[in-house]
Amino acid sequence: MKKVGALILAAGKGTRLRSELPKALHKLCGKPMLGWLVDRAVEAGAKMPVVVAGYRADLVRAWAGSKAKIVLQKNQLGSGHAVAVSATAFRGFDGTILLFYCDTPLLTRGTIKRLLDHHRSSGAQATLLTVSIPDPTGYGRVKRGPGGEVLSIVEELSASADEKRIREINVGFYAFEAKALFAALKKVRRDPVKKEYYLTDVVAILSEAGRVEALETADQEEVQGVNSLRELAHAESVAQRRVLEALMDAGVRIRDPKTTTIDADVRIGQDTTVLPHTVVEEGASIGRQCTIGPFARIRAHSKIGDRVVIGNFVEIVRSEIASGSQVKHLTYLGDARIGKGVNVGAGTITANYDGRDKHLTVIEDGASIGSGTVLVAPVRVGKNAKTGAGSVIPARRNVAAGSTVAGVPARVLGKKK
Ligand code: UD1
Ligand code: CA
Repeated sequence: MKKVGALILAAGKGTRLRSELPKALHKLCGKPMLGWLVDRAVEAGAKMPVVVAGYRADLVRAWAGSKAKIVLQKNQLGSGHAVAVSATAFRGFDGTILLFYCDTPLLTRGTIKRLLDHHRSSGAQATLLTVSIPDPTGYGRVKRGPGGEVLSIVEELSASADEKRIREINVGFYAFEAKALFAALKKVRRDPVKKEYYLTDVVAILSEAGRVEALETADQEEVQGVNSLRELAHAESVAQRRVLEALMDAGVRIRDPKTTTIDADVRIGQDTTVLPHTVVEEGASIGRQCTIGPFARIRAHSKIGDRVVIGNFVEIVRSEIASGSQVKHLTYLGDARIGKGVNVGAGTITANYDGRDKHLTVIEDGASIGSGTVLVAPVRVGKNAKTGAGSVIPARRNVAAGSTVAGVPARVLGKKK
């Protein structure tokens, strides 16, 4: 079978988003649109997706790291020009290129696979994904011949009144035979109206010489483009619903999906319950049989073990909480390492920031932190130690294992034998 490569066009600024951030880096559920597509491309078999960047390419490159190969398009002369610029990255490649636009981030694995299968079995030079929608304004229209064969794509600005009535549109996701694609691009001329090189012009060129196929999808949701912040919000609600559904399918109980915000790539174990108004951010992981919320916020990359209870108005930042611990009410834990079976009383605060640096708070297994304790980091509370209600533990005044401290500043009250 032919090799699969992927190309993602992401050089546009996305003027209609009214933002300094390049369009491709706007996030859905904590993950840039570009990230969603890089993941889809890798799933489909493309080892190292190629991304064409232009506007704020430095930011795109910094995000991509080793996840994708970046090609620079200095001037945004159109989608056809963007693909032509990528030719260097595909030199010697004789396979199939899956081509995505970064502003169509909701495409599903199933549709991508169906398009690729269709492309392979038909032996076409190009296969495009299309959808019929009630209001096709602004999109490229798909022109078909009498036998249903694809003839060309006509962009809105060049469409005649008759062509504007066509409701089948070009989604902006294609499979191309690499050699045929780059050869056809050489024949594309600048569009006289928009002064751009349209990628969509290769469709007519390829259909004249060989064969272009179209796969029409009925799913209007996954083909939605994101060109404005309104559309971004709508796409995010779709992405959020999918994230929550995948978690529920894996055995996570989500009491009220409408008020629950969970980023992509968050891991949560079976039989954990997430209560309303909870936010779990990118890269966080939560074990099995936990209860989280209501009104909890678990921030990026925190790690929560099994059977942990995190209650209302608790914020957890860059912290780890081992199994069986409880943090039930009104607490801030930042840069904390909490052992097993720890009870953190209501209103506990880790003062982790001294105005310049962040510091670590360690609370060892079995410790019990009294209500309203302030732990000024860096500080360590030893195994099975206790702090009294309202105590302030100053920085570096570690609490010895098994001891009890209380007061402001905290003094030792007693020590178990
Ligand atoms: C494009 C299609 C249109 C389709 C629609 C679907 C073309 C000519 N038209 O129109 O048929 O219905 O998408 O949403 O392709 N880009 C670059 N460099 C450039 C120009 C664009 O990288 O010089 C990238 C953009 O970042 C974007 C993609 O190409 O990811 C599409 O460009 P955009 O301007 O959004 O095209 P549309 O007008 O939406
Ligand atoms: Ca677009």
